[in-house]
Amino acid sequence: MTAQTRADGSLRHLLTLEGLSSRELTQLLDRAQEYVRPPGARAPVSRALAGVTVANLFTEPSTRTRVSFELAAKRLGAEVVNLELQLSSRVKGESMLDTIFTLEALHVDAFVIRDAEAGVPGLVAAHVAPHVSVLSAGEGSAAHPTQGLLDALTIRQRKHRFDGLVVAIVGDIRHSRVARSACHALTTLGVAELRVVGPASLLPGDDEFRGCVRHTDIEAGLRDADVVMMLRIQRERMEGEAQLDGAAYFDSFGLTAARLRLAKPDAIILHPQPMNRGVEIASDVADGPQSAIRDQVRNGVAVRMAVLATVVRTGDST
Ligand code: NCD
Repeated sequence: MTAQTRADGSLRHLLTLEGLSSRELTQLLDRAQEYVRPPGARAPVSRALAGVTVANLFTEPSTRTRVSFELAAKRLGAEVVNLELQLSSRVKGESMLDTIFTLEALHVDAFVIRDAEAGVPGLVAAHVAPHVSVLSAGEGSAAHPTQGLLDALTIRQRKHRFDGLVVAIVGDIRHSRVARSACHALTTLGVAELRVVGPASLLPGDDEFRGCVRHTDIEAGLRDADVVMMLRIQRERMEGEAQLDGAAYFDSFGLTAARLRLAKPDAIILHPQPMNRGVEIASDVADGPQSAIRDQVRNGVAVRMAVLATVVRTGDST
């Protein structure tokens, strides 16, 4: 794994939340909170990254994450270029790095990279010039660090603490980079219990999510939870695996109003989106009073502003 800190210990890249301390995570959340505005208010504007150029390199479909990275960079005064490349097919060749070096020559200071294959953001981070930063916007099933941060920020805004909380992550955990990054953030921030809930075929291997409580029964998994994070069935990552029937999945693992009553009365619901209504979540629950899903989207821009402002060095310093 490419180191993501500089010699002085400051964060240079954000590739994973694994290994970040509670203090580092809290500093990022505090900084993000400063950029949060209430619904209807004008977005925050800053010149913190004036003169900086950010390149978004996305090889997987993305709406929220790409748009929110773009808005985050622009609201900090940076210039943004968006490129659609086929990084995966070239990950082992030099041509992908040639593209990166070309962009570096054009004075790109930060790369935001999403790729279906694990390893691409780290590989780029290992090769860029010392003043250049790399941010992962989702790497295979391995990591989605800004999503983990925005999930933690949303929980902190609604619950005002992490200690004592029971968090249930429900659905396709095995293929989920969102679950992995949430697990790294929330265990470090000190939640009382983290549960992974889903059919046995979608739970992670035994060597992962250590310390998490596993449930294959959704009722048991939801009981007395403070936070319920629902995940999408990621069919695109299930090559060669048995495909699940959406209606049957909803019957056994869909979040309905009746099932939600098993959680604490003030439990909140998270979902990274895109949502499959009627597959992992009922529409009335997704749009209901306990849903914090729109808060997550709003917090996504604030978190990405905080991360960009933290990692990108302005001026001549490297
Ligand atoms: C997630 C992703 O791409 O990992 N979406 C997102 O970033 N908001 C989750 C998903 O695709 O199901």
